[in-house]
Amino acid sequence: MIQDNNNTHTTLKQQFSVPFEYPLHYTRGSLAPENLRLANLIVNHADHPVILPVLDDGLLKGQPRLPEQLKHYAAAHSLNLLPPLIATGGEACKQNTELLERIYDAVVEHRIDRHAYILVAGGGAVIDAVGYAAATAHRGIRLIRMPSTVLAQNDAAVGVKNAINYAERKNFLGTFVPPYAVISDFDWLDSLEARDKRAGIAEAIKVALIKSPEFFQWLYEQRQALARFEHRAVETMIIEGARWHLDHIAHQGDPFEMGSARPLDFGHWSAHKLEALSQHSLRHGEAVAIGIAMDSIYSHKAGRLSDAALAQILTLLTDLGFSLHHPALDRLNVHQALDEFREHLGGRLCITLLNGLGDAEEVTSIDADLMDASKQSLSQLPGAA
Ligand SMILES: NC(=O)c1ccc[n+]([C@@H]2O[C@H](COP(=O)([O-])OP(=O)(O)OC[C@H]3O[C@@H](n4cnc5c(N)ncnc54)[C@H](O)[C@@H]3O)[C@@H](O)[C@H]2O)c1
Ligand SMILES: [Zn+2]
Repeated sequence: MIQDNNNTHTTLKQQFSVPFEYPLHYTRGSLAPENLRLANLIVNHADHPVILPVLDDGLLKGQPRLPEQLKHYAAAHSLNLLPPLIATGGEACKQNTELLERIYDAVVEHRIDRHAYILVAGGGAVIDAVGYAAATAHRGIRLIRMPSTVLAQNDAAVGVKNAINYAERKNFLGTFVPPYAVISDFDWLDSLEARDKRAGIAEAIKVALIKSPEFFQWLYEQRQALARFEHRAVETMIIEGARWHLDHIAHQGDPFEMGSARPLDFGHWSAHKLEALSQHSLRHGEAVAIGIAMDSIYSHKAGRLSDAALAQILTLLTDLGFSLHHPALDRLNVHQALDEFREHLGGRLCITLLNGLGDAEEVTSIDADLMDASKQSLSQLPGAA
């Protein structure tokens, strides 16, 4: 029944929730015709929904047969595959809108609609940028992610965030939109440069330090095998890292980061700044390793973290081959960077510190002089120039 509104002020309430679910497959030979993981994802197969592939050029250099494999795979499974777009790999593709525009143009040209798929294969940077394009074109096209770096397989491609940079601000334009599915092919990791193999381990260490003492101890014990990039250790590390990232997103009550607590960003306040200060010559994971070391040293200096725990963290990072000092650190003005970070968070600082291995706490104030001293300590570590 329609009620006459005789009130001056009216408040209606809207409430609904939408469950999200997506599979994450870890496999080898993902494009061998007998591997059904990709083919089985395509629904309404009979209607031949189009699939727009976007491929990272660094991945293609390492895996030159990939376009041909994809074509054969599509033929074997009657998939309606469009010619692939090639993206410049690495942070460059997030620095401007060139890749986005090519994707939007392809969406228009091929009349890609919300029943179609964008299939992105590449590192975290290409996945972030293509994810942003897929989330915004037609207000969201299904995105299948095929991450091809250690970092993307255990972190960047498993969650709900997509972004590009704007005016030197990392991830300034972005969305929280879950993928349709994720397929990680371990075979692809073989062609990564050593530094990219290593960089991805930083995010697994980060998530272990904030969530799981057992996972941290396992990483510590496996550090020699991980440094040699032994397949079994690396694959276990990737799956366990992904599991903890997924667990955090689903179960900490804030998957779309409405609040200010961002423990998954442990070590990241300085890492993002260092990436920009290095003109992106530092990889994200390399910067995160430095950021983890700095915030762990601070946690120790602030009386939270024991000598033994700090020693284990620094040993793990250096034994893996991370360099914990970089010329960009000299250009990092800690006081200014903390102020900027506070502004970025809307006026209230929120930084994750460690009380132990696998035991994190959010704090709202940081002693900038002590943080600066923590930064200085990095240059006194073994191996520092
Ligand atoms: N969305 C998220 O939640 C999230 C989380 C963590 C990191 N990130 C983002 O991820 C990005 C870093 O990703 P990354 O560490 O994967 O590095 P990257 O994407 O910059 O790739 C590094 C290099 O490896 C090349 N490459 C990719 N796959 C290859 C392969 N199999 N063989 C040979 N070369 C290959 C790329 O072309 C690039 O040159 C950053 O932009 C970071 O902000 C996003
Ligand atoms: Zn990160």
